[in-house]
Amino acid sequence: MPVTVRDIRAFKERSERFAMVTAYDAAAARLLDEAGIPILLVGDSLGMVVLGHPTTLPVTVDDMVHHTAAVRRGATEAMVVADMPFMSYQASLQEGIRNAGRLVKEGGANAVKLEGGARVLELTSRLVDAGIPVMGHLGLTPQSVNQFGGFRVQGRSEEAAHRILADAKDLEAAGAFSVVLESVPAELARKVTGSLEVPTIGIGAGPHCDGQVLVYHDVFGITQGHVPRFVKRYADVGDTIKQAARAFAREVAEGIYPGPEHTYG
Ligand code: KIV
Repeated sequence: MPVTVRDIRAFKERSERFAMVTAYDAAAARLLDEAGIPILLVGDSLGMVVLGHPTTLPVTVDDMVHHTAAVRRGATEAMVVADMPFMSYQASLQEGIRNAGRLVKEGGANAVKLEGGARVLELTSRLVDAGIPVMGHLGLTPQSVNQFGGFRVQGRSEEAAHRILADAKDLEAAGAFSVVLESVPAELARKVTGSLEVPTIGIGAGPHCDGQVLVYHDVFGITQGHVPRFVKRYADVGDTIKQAARAFAREVAEGIYPGPEHTYG
């Protein structure tokens, strides 16, 4: 049975921790779906890990629709959540509603994710009224990287922590079915998680959140070079690909591949 927002709420009611992983194409979505991951997030991290940009800011609604539709085709059971990219919902409520509608109608998303607190409350309740479930995102919201002056842990001061807690409660009141907490101190995430009836999903937010999310390329070891402290690699697919690519190139150079078993008579 496909995972729905009711199942996500039920995880918290049963105190059952759950995982969310980002996905950007049908092949990855199929693997994650078959592995039983209940939520696939088509994150705007797409811009960084797939499209090669230094931030998420260049990602467009068309990019998100294209990749969300691919993930939708690969996933049969998992819930597909699509990020609203930078400037797809900041200019006006109408634009936000229309763009969220595109992610659902053209991309096949089951829900959308919005970054921010107070500034997205009205949009959140309008989308929920329109039948589009909303996942909130607080803490280090990468679309505000220029405002933050880099990818930095958020919510360290008492005032900032208070703001994040208040925003989380307001998002829940506006109808959000879950809230991502990114790069905040574990104690703040514990407090937010204990204050909400809807689940929190942490990334760099410590062990007390109801769920945890990681980026596909980080969790499977495809990202090369620096990864944030909170990343745990569960595989080294990047190294495996490099070894296999070298072996392929060597066999081609040596005339070993293709052999008779790979050749039509
Ligand atoms: O874009 C993304 O991948 C995200 C997750 C890191 C939560 O927003």
